[in-house]
Amino acid sequence: MARNKYPVHTTLSGDAIKVLERYEKELGAKNLVLEKALLSLDTERFKSKLDTLNLDIAIKRISTGVMGLDDMLEGGVPEGFSVIVTGPPGTGKTTLSMQFLVDGIKKGEKCIFFSFEESLQQLVQHFMRFGWDLGKYIDDGYLEVFGMSMLTLEEITEILETYKPNRLVFDSLNAFTNPEDFRKSTAWRSSHRLMKQRKITSFLITEKHHGIETKHFDEYDFFGDGIIFLDSMKINEVDTMLSPVLAVQKMRATKVDITPQPFRFGEHGIVKNRSIHLESRLQKRLGASSMERGYDKSSNKLGY
Ligand SMILES: Nc1ncnc2c1ncn2[C@@H]1O[C@H](COP(=O)(O)OP(=O)(O)OP(=O)(O)O)[C@@H](O)[C@H]1O
Ligand SMILES: [Mg+2]
Repeated sequence: MARNKYPVHTTLSGDAIKVLERYEKELGAKNLVLEKALLSLDTERFKSKLDTLNLDIAIKRISTGVMGLDDMLEGGVPEGFSVIVTGPPGTGKTTLSMQFLVDGIKKGEKCIFFSFEESLQQLVQHFMRFGWDLGKYIDDGYLEVFGMSMLTLEEITEILETYKPNRLVFDSLNAFTNPEDFRKSTAWRSSHRLMKQRKITSFLITEKHHGIETKHFDEYDFFGDGIIFLDSMKINEVDTMLSPVLAVQKMRATKVDITPQPFRFGEHGIVKNRSIHLESRLQKRLGASSMERGYDKSSNKLGY
């Protein structure tokens, strides 16, 4: 079995490993003294890097653009998080994601929307209904929309480097790639790393072939820092109509209640209705009897 040459090399830089390999070749054996020296040197560097990250600062939360949804998230999504916005067809994923960008634009932030299935014209026309003048936001320099995008992830990464947005939407990841290959691809990992470094808060739309009551997760759900699931369901047993609902199924560093909550399409976009407590029968179906997950609200800090 291949021996793990550098069992502790997580703190060794690429350069340090090269030096070690050269010496190993020349001396014909592992030079423990040299490895130790290099390791302590890099540990020092690693520590100083950690200090500069200033891990103890409170999390900055970014509004989703839906007040009632922010209330379900201790005030909003932690800055720099990649949130999966998912659900079956026609449940409001694109609307919620555009609303998130419109909120940023109104605060003077730069936003970017990559659509792989809708044209710019279609999006402009559709969102005029809510009074969102995408054309004006684009002219004013706060929004870039790539409709029917044929861009590769490498090209998208370059655009992010240049445009430096605060908020980003991909609509949808399924139109772009399949979940297994995507998560592991170098292109995605370098794009994702850039998003983290630049603290770009993103809504990444994915598609589900099942409703909120089915427990089935894909690779996208695992790499997302958060999951917002949109669907429609009967809230009460006596209901004859389905109501649109949204649920925060996951949000790292945040205490969340995963109970689906009803919302409506209002004059200016999505509005969350008054919170409800689901009937126990429904709760059972959703496996949501003890729904509170996550972190202590009183310590609103990043713990890593
Ligand atoms: N003003 C409105 N009032 C009621 N429903 C609306 C309104 N505007 C949009 N909808 C509904 O919202 C849904 C479309 O919203 P949106 O495009 O955001 O959904 P989506 O989840 O992105 O859909 P898709 O899976 O097709 O991409 C449609 O089902 C439409 O009927
Ligand atoms: Mg859509």
